[in-house]
Amino acid sequence: MTVAARTYLRNSRRVDHALLEKLLQNHLSPSSSIVDEVHTECRTVPRITAEFWTSRQRQSSSLHEISYRACFKAQLPRFFIDRFSLPGDVVYDPFMGRGTTLIEAALQGRRAWGNDINPLSKILARPRLQPPDIDEVRRRLSSIRLSAKGHAAVDLSMFYHPRTEAAIVSLRKYLLARRHAGSLDAVDRWIRMVATNRLTGHSRGFFSVYTLPPNQALSPDNQIRINRMRRQKPEYRDVSELILRKTKSLLRNLSEQEYSNLAAVSREARCITLPAWRTKTIDNDSVHLTVTSPPFLDIVNYAQDNWLRCWFNGIDHRQVSRRMTVVRLLEDWEDAMGRVFSELHRITVPEGVVAFEVGEIRNRNLNLDEVVVPLGHQAGFRCVAVLINQQRFTKTSNIWGISNNKSGTNTNRIVVFQKSRKHH
Ligand SMILES: C[S@@+](CC[C@H](N)C(=O)[O-])C[C@H]1O[C@@H](n2cnc3c(N)ncnc32)[C@H](O)[C@@H]1O
Repeated sequence: MTVAARTYLRNSRRVDHALLEKLLQNHLSPSSSIVDEVHTECRTVPRITAEFWTSRQRQSSSLHEISYRACFKAQLPRFFIDRFSLPGDVVYDPFMGRGTTLIEAALQGRRAWGNDINPLSKILARPRLQPPDIDEVRRRLSSIRLSAKGHAAVDLSMFYHPRTEAAIVSLRKYLLARRHAGSLDAVDRWIRMVATNRLTGHSRGFFSVYTLPPNQALSPDNQIRINRMRRQKPEYRDVSELILRKTKSLLRNLSEQEYSNLAAVSREARCITLPAWRTKTIDNDSVHLTVTSPPFLDIVNYAQDNWLRCWFNGIDHRQVSRRMTVVRLLEDWEDAMGRVFSELHRITVPEGVVAFEVGEIRNRNLNLDEVVVPLGHQAGFRCVAVLINQQRFTKTSNIWGISNNKSGTNTNRIVVFQKSRKHH
């Protein structure tokens, strides 16, 4: 049975009123949020459905605009950062991906910590916590000699014009040499992040010919097929020019305040590359808020998807794949996430909060939020609520040149936990 949130709050003795009211600020009108309950062996938890954040809200920062498989929108971490952290607090994501939680936290003056087993994640996230001046980027790019001749050891001819490929190969050589010499600086790291992001995509803003979206599985064979179907051949692209253009775009709406927040916290930002359940370098009781979405119960293989990005950065994607959590069985997923919750409990400050996003319902009837509630409890957390953000959208998609307007809903399920005041 479902009831309106206001009625539920008024009548229920089971819930933590102060925390729920904090969560539901502005969502307590009679019709705006609906509550049902998740019953587990140890506890009954309210599950609230509403449009908690919308794309109409304050636009998110252009600094987020880096594609990554299964990333969440910046509005999601912002919702929790606003409610459950203060400037100077540590906000953490153990599965940081492109770094949405970290960037949003740092923009708001929180200390940003993150972890991801995929080393690409740090390459994509860290530089955006310390954005350089555009003139520095321009000067650095003009000082790097990008050759017009040269091939990669792998065949990339289906993606790039020969001169573009030569420029990419020499930029890669420059960056790897700087890394080996220990002389990579913030400007180099920025250039590496932007170039990694520009490798493939479906507009002229990318180095490649039209490909699948840059965050999706792409293989040379598939690309040959796409080229044949679209009767396309890779055209020349100016690598430096495109890096500069994307730099401008990433920095286009950063405010003075956001620049100064980033400057204040970037030195203390931490990006680590460890299994999420064994982050030994993080002290006990040190994280105020965690906002995260784990690898889902499916076969998304983030490293496999990103082989070209890995190649550019001198990373062996097969080795990364082996370390990543890719599970098909619910028991294995529960086992892995149970260990993650124990680790989160160790590093969270007393009364700290964890917001754990599990995506949409899988296979019609598997509600991962219901699976996650007891896992958090077993680790010692108290589950405050499950939030279901139901966002309506209309989007124009353009697939293979055919446009269609699609409306639908974009659902996020987030399980919210709190660590108790006195922990055992
Ligand atoms: C759903 S994505 C997170 C996306 C992120 N919220 C964002 O906005 O970009 C899950 C991430 O978990 C990482 N991952 C997979 N197994 C892991 C493990 N055992 N430890 C840490 N990270 C892992 C993947 O590399 C991937 O980046």
